[in-house]
Amino acid sequence: MSHQTILVEKKGNIGIIQLNRPKVLNAINRLMVDEIVEQMEAFDRDPDIRVIVLRGNDRAFAAGADIEEMMNDTPISFELRDPFAVWDKMMLIKKPLIASVNGYALGGGFELALHCDLIIAAEDAKFGFPEVKLGVLPGAGGTQYLTKLMGRTKAIEWLWLGEPMTAQEAAHYGIVNRIVHPKLVEEETMRFAERLSKQPPISLRLIKEAVNKAVDSPLREGLQLERKNFYLAFDSKDQKEGMNAFVEKRAPHFKGE
Ligand code: CAA
Repeated sequence: MSHQTILVEKKGNIGIIQLNRPKVLNAINRLMVDEIVEQMEAFDRDPDIRVIVLRGNDRAFAAGADIEEMMNDTPISFELRDPFAVWDKMMLIKKPLIASVNGYALGGGFELALHCDLIIAAEDAKFGFPEVKLGVLPGAGGTQYLTKLMGRTKAIEWLWLGEPMTAQEAAHYGIVNRIVHPKLVEEETMRFAERLSKQPPISLRLIKEAVNKAVDSPLREGLQLERKNFYLAFDSKDQKEGMNAFVEKRAPHFKGE
């Protein structure tokens, strides 16, 4: 399938989506969100793909939603087109999603990274929600994700001031998983993705579902889902392979079955 705003590549078991509007620092227009989501869903269905990587270029992961595209919107035009609804589909992706961030991850760009399961960032990456400076606020989940990750006290400060945070600050608040030299971001992302691609895929998806449940449900509901998923894992061949390999003292080979 040909795309206008993204580039798509497969490297072994890893599916890579690269945001590709470099002239506007990968500003996210509506077509780009549609293309990202369609491609994530295609990789999620593709039996050869085990991990999905989302990346930008050296200067920007993405500098936010496309301001020019939305500047003349009205509440009614938003209501009728509901452009943020498609973002919800990212939360249904079952395979691991890794955001690989160089440069700016601002506004909708930061929200896109926060929709991923892991973030690998350059030491000089900049994360932030500058929407307040435009007289608005984040609209694709920023206030919710940031508050759940860093707590109300700090989240409201960042959101009110709108200044970018460094990769070190983002790591300190548990937003970023790894920080590396800017030239090593791609390598570190692929290393992490390859490592994950060797893990049993069914376990990974059951863990993702249970962890996501922990974020927005009462403890008891999360515990019940975890238990159900634990029982379910015993219907996979990978469970037999993993436990047999342990007692036979050899490395397991997981097939995702
Ligand atoms: N939308 C549209 N165009 C954008 C853009 C955006 N979010 N961010 C950058 N661009 C464009 C610029 O207009 C510029 O285009 P021209 O060359 O045609 O003038 C080009 O990208 C390069 O940008 P700059 O010249 O501004 O580059 P810089 O290095 O001086 O500054 C920057 C970089 C600090 C990231 C600055 O571009 C900037 O502040 N961008 C806007 C960031 C922002 O406000 N993001 C939030 C958007 S709202 C949102 O995301 C809502 C939501 O929750 C979904």
